[in-house]
Amino acid sequence: NHEYTKEKVAKMSALIEEKIKHFKAHPTLGIICGSGLGEVTKAVKDPVTIAYKDIPGFPRSTVQGHAGQFVIGYIHDVLVVCMQGRFHFYEGYDIGTCCLPVKLLKLLGCHSLIISNAAGGLNAEFNVGDIMIIHDHINLMGFSGNGPLVGPNDESWGPRFFSMHNAYNPAFIKAAKEQMRKKNMPEHVGVYTALGGPHFETVAELRMLKSQGVDAVGMSTVHEVVMARYLGLHVFSFSLITNKCPTTYDGDKNVNHQEVIDTGREKAHVLVDFVRDLVPVLDSI
Ligand code: 6GU
Repeated sequence: NHEYTKEKVAKMSALIEEKIKHFKAHPTLGIICGSGLGEVTKAVKDPVTIAYKDIPGFPRSTVQGHAGQFVIGYIHDVLVVCMQGRFHFYEGYDIGTCCLPVKLLKLLGCHSLIISNAAGGLNAEFNVGDIMIIHDHINLMGFSGNGPLVGPNDESWGPRFFSMHNAYNPAFIKAAKEQMRKKNMPEHVGVYTALGGPHFETVAELRMLKSQGVDAVGMSTVHEVVMARYLGLHVFSFSLITNKCPTTYDGDKNVNHQEVIDTGREKAHVLVDFVRDLVPVLDSI
């Protein structure tokens, strides 16, 4: 998708920059908040809030529980841009539109991103409410050519061909694991994949994913990380395990959206605490 040209995104970026010029600095870290992380904005000092609807050409977020706004300000001494509300493929946005925020964060001056999501746990070691650091992904939607970089390439954004090796910054992962140890959190690290949704998966699908090395499954993040790496951004990403993925046919083990929402709410304080203290560490790497 090449609707979001440099010119178009630069206009959006200029509009935001105008509203944050009193900071006299560029934000350095972007945070894309998945379910449960929206409250991280409570840790932002001197926040400037900009609604997506006030940025011409910017899509709206249609998912309930996602505010649809930028919150810009300081976490510790790092100027961050939080995005409360992302765009999902299942909402009807094409995969390029889903990645527009990543382009915008790049133009605002960010060099690194924290990307979170809610996911179902396939790894038997994971409990509901745990955090899994993502160290790699399987781009299932991209397998069939549904990727954000399909089409003509604008070299001023990034190269036509690029590596996805170590896309999830190993130094960030190491720092995050140390943080988890200090906080007595289980140190899960694993492989994430995203499906188009909005429906959850069948037992056969989940068994297949598990057998192929997937630890957590969701509906976002993967294409955002592809875009981020294309743009040269450093990435840290994690999943909140909101439910276990049913790999047997017992009826009572079904996933439901309410469980996803409830776990996000219950664990919000854990996610916020984790990210708040990780921000200065990642920013200094
Ligand atoms: Cl089980 N599947 C997907 N695709 N996304 C999820 C999930 C499951 N649980 C939370 N998000």
